[in-house]
Amino acid sequence: MSETIQTLLQENRSFPPSPEFIAQANVSDPEIYAKAAADPEAFWESWAKQLDWFEPWHTVCEFTPPDAKWFVGGKLNATYNCVDRHANGARKDKPAIIWEAEPGNSRTITYGELKDEVSRLANAFKALGVGKGDRVSVYMPMVPELAYVMLACARIGAAHSVVFGGFSAESLEERTNDADCKLIVTADGGWRRGHIVPLKATVDEAMDLGCPSVSHVLVLKHVGPEGTLTNGLAAPKYNEGVWQEGRDVWWHEIVPQQSTDCPCEPMDSEDLLFILYTSGSTGKPKGIVHTTGGYMTGTYATSKWVFDLKDEDIHFCTADCGWVTGHSYVVYGPMANGATVLMYEGAPDTPDKDRLWRIIEKHKATILYTAPTAIRAFMKWGTQYPDRCDMSSLRLLGSVGEPINPEAWIWYHETIGKGRCPVVDTWWQTETGAIMITALPGITATKPGSATQPFPGISVSVYSESGVGNQITGPGVTGKAGGGFLVLTKPWPSMTRGIFNDPARFQRTYWSRFENAYFAGDGVKLDEEGYLWLLGRVDDIMLVSGHNISTMEVESALVDHPSVAEAAVIGKTHDLKGQAISAFVILRGGHENHPGLVDELKGHVAHKIGALARPDDIFVCAELPKTRSGKIMRRLLRDVAEGRALGDTTTLADPAVVALLKDKYESSES
Ligand code: WT7
Repeated sequence: MSETIQTLLQENRSFPPSPEFIAQANVSDPEIYAKAAADPEAFWESWAKQLDWFEPWHTVCEFTPPDAKWFVGGKLNATYNCVDRHANGARKDKPAIIWEAEPGNSRTITYGELKDEVSRLANAFKALGVGKGDRVSVYMPMVPELAYVMLACARIGAAHSVVFGGFSAESLEERTNDADCKLIVTADGGWRRGHIVPLKATVDEAMDLGCPSVSHVLVLKHVGPEGTLTNGLAAPKYNEGVWQEGRDVWWHEIVPQQSTDCPCEPMDSEDLLFILYTSGSTGKPKGIVHTTGGYMTGTYATSKWVFDLKDEDIHFCTADCGWVTGHSYVVYGPMANGATVLMYEGAPDTPDKDRLWRIIEKHKATILYTAPTAIRAFMKWGTQYPDRCDMSSLRLLGSVGEPINPEAWIWYHETIGKGRCPVVDTWWQTETGAIMITALPGITATKPGSATQPFPGISVSVYSESGVGNQITGPGVTGKAGGGFLVLTKPWPSMTRGIFNDPARFQRTYWSRFENAYFAGDGVKLDEEGYLWLLGRVDDIMLVSGHNISTMEVESALVDHPSVAEAAVIGKTHDLKGQAISAFVILRGGHENHPGLVDELKGHVAHKIGALARPDDIFVCAELPKTRSGKIMRRLLRDVAEGRALGDTTTLADPAVVALLKDKYESSES
């Protein structure tokens, strides 16, 4: 890669917060950036003090790169902060969780009930031999019990490792063994698009592959006719797995009779809270480690300021708890704030493509936090679905997971937010634990496609190849405009403490590229006004005739065309240019491929970005290969475009998509 990453895409629209929003915002004083930058440790300490601690810390931060400790010597319990302090006080009867299931039934659990449920489950864990310092593998659908499991682990000082319910038996087995888990918690199955995902049967398969550390499998009866959650609805036929006496234990046979008395284990601030595996596009998954005090402080603070979280809010984060977004912004962050969270188990197009909007209407959600890949799907389906629902309860919209292209941002703002709701585009990672770069909705004038500025107390730099760059700590602290590598130059409380059992890989992956700085792996551009524009993974930046062009910029330009719903761009090896730009596009509903469309799209990109970004070829297709978390796997598209055998497809949501794409691509070439 050349000395800096250039960028060409321009976006000049700006959306300042409304006076009404500012007047009620949790934070509206722009001075907080400078204050936090002047003394980040004092800033974070003031947040930590808003949590309940059993014993105070003696030192705010100890940092010897890459090892950080926060609130050293302090003792606390995450579940005490998320549940007990609310249940024991004024929020006892306040809904903690509103849960909606795909078949249409819903349940509400108050903080008081949550405390009892979590305590009983924690006692059941103890009865199954799980205690402080142990690890628990979790393979569940998006049900309230999934949150209970996480909180029950934290209550007794066991760490959870949640494995997304869409992963295979091999993935579950690999993660369970890497973390040396004693227990697997699962359900008979989960709902997805009118079908049942057979979870218990997959756990059986993982156990058959060999998980020697696991002595029990705790199984929630969820989809069976007498299951707790379907109001007698008979689930479609599914593979129930094979019950193994002695190993398998039904939830309803061990949990209900437990005592609701289970004290919260006082945990050291640096004790393990959870492990979460990130798949990565290559290599074995990394067990990202998070500890208690710093993680709780980071997720508590960002929930309060980024989502402007209030007691009256109904917070709807659509992420599954199998991802970090579900950990930080379904469970720990909002619940540390005593918020009401809305959980949905099921697909956004079941029974119809308005399902998400119907859920917002039914439960009067005020905050929606979702991903660009979902937003682009909603755009593709059309505005008739949101338009027929009453979503006037919404007051704030969030985006996470990948760069949001300006077109999708504007659609989200107008069609879902009716122009009233601030949009916060939040950049962060499993490794960062909490949101790092984001607008603050009562302060920041947003620009569509820019994640704007670092959260107060966070120091970001845009480094050149040689590791030079100014620190950016808030608006106005602009440094030199230009593109480069995104690094974090100061420690922050919720940063990962490492890769489970692999310190060398931790050092190599994040801390060896630049000295004393965390390298996030993303490219970023700083504009003249000090706004940050994320450009995607540096591996996804192309080198075309000596120019760096980000795949994401070309994708944005394509999606800006009225007929394009979604685009994926790759650099294809080219004799003269080094790389040539190759694009795969999906058309919006109601648009057909016609002769001349491809040329029109090429011209559109050249017009939006410049002639050198004009794609060499554009292939119109029906679907794109995505991981289960919705990320496009450009590596496989490169295999398709370069005519190679497909690489590893095991992390794909649907491997058939890319196989079909390859066939069609090859027949279109010949
Ligand atoms: C990677 C982290 C953070 C929770 C979900 C993903 C990309 C994430 C944004 C954003 C541009 C983003 C980055 C990052 N990413 N949010 N708002 N704008 N890119 O967690 O699986 O650990 O992935 O997702 O490339 O490095 P993850």
